[in-house]
Amino acid sequence: MHDISLQGQVAVVTGAGGGLGRSYALALADAGAAVLVNDTGGALDGQGGERGAAHAVVDEIVARGGHAAANTDSVATPEGGEAIVAHAIAELGDIDIVVNNAGILRDRSVGKIDWNDFQSVHDVHLRGSAHVSQPAFRHMREKGYGRFVFIGSNAGTFGNFGQAAYASAKGGIMSLSGIVAIEGERHGILSNVVCPIARTRMTDSMLDDALDLDPDHVSPLIVYLSSRENTATHQIFSAGGGHFSRVFLGLTDGWFADEKSTAGAIAEHFDDIVSTGHFSVPGSAAEEVAALAARIAESTSGSEARR
Ligand SMILES: NC(=O)c1ccc[n+]([C@@H]2O[C@H](COP(=O)([O-])OP(=O)(O)OC[C@H]3O[C@@H](n4cnc5c(N)ncnc54)[C@H](O)[C@@H]3O)[C@@H](O)[C@H]2O)c1
Repeated sequence: MHDISLQGQVAVVTGAGGGLGRSYALALADAGAAVLVNDTGGALDGQGGERGAAHAVVDEIVARGGHAAANTDSVATPEGGEAIVAHAIAELGDIDIVVNNAGILRDRSVGKIDWNDFQSVHDVHLRGSAHVSQPAFRHMREKGYGRFVFIGSNAGTFGNFGQAAYASAKGGIMSLSGIVAIEGERHGILSNVVCPIARTRMTDSMLDDALDLDPDHVSPLIVYLSSRENTATHQIFSAGGGHFSRVFLGLTDGWFADEKSTAGAIAEHFDDIVSTGHFSVPGSAAEEVAALAARIAESTSGSEARR
């Protein structure tokens, strides 16, 4: 076992005034990073603001011998995102790591969507992640190094009843992280998603009290993905209660129609199309299209050879 050091690096953790974000901020600081602890300190639905939350976590970090600064700008606007990144650079001198963790909940099923709530949830989760990531990405691109960790959710990966806004925002976050990963690779910037499962005010009513789902179980993965040692990018992880695993979107080998297909032929080959027995995990849309081009070329040369 070896320690991961973030000595000399600067991390921004959004929504770090409590819950999982607080745990990430403490763990990153314990590993040696200087941390900008961002939080508006609102209620679970994003209303109100107890601006002391970010300061309290900074006090905890300082009491443990770490280095941190508090920030109370909202991730929900482009100006807020710019201000958060500018604050980290001005007060802590740089920005190497961004953990896009801030979040709110306003759950509604599809039939009962309230468009103001839908927008607020997207503003904090999806747009909020982009608002902070764009200025941070520009800064990291200049220096040729950076690590992003986006916080997703199993509601986004696998779906959850009654969370239309939240799950769709988290789904968008997975895609956004993928684009940051693809565009960042040549600049030394890596980006991954972590979908946590932990007991916080967001999940307290949904989880079995008997389970040890302390947020601290998730933080080691955040620290690892934030480090120089990590080389993984464009990936999605699940973490909770001491269990860590990868989540991925795969493309089944499926069925290739040698002749122009019909709906009836689709029905006959449907089991082949959906079978997960053999699959690939394309690294980008271009990789999927390249694989398809190869498959079409193979089929064309086969049918020409048969002629
Ligand atoms: N707890 C879980 O099991 C779980 C599961 C999946 C995903 N998540 C995600 O993890 C993240 C943290 O959630 P949590 O469970 O710790 O809940 P939490 O409510 O304790 O943490 C969210 C934090 O974000 C802050 N915040 C809200 N709006 C903000 C804004 N506009 N700008 C800056 N900060 C803002 C809140 O004040 C709060 O401190 C969220 O993105 C959540 O969706 C949590």
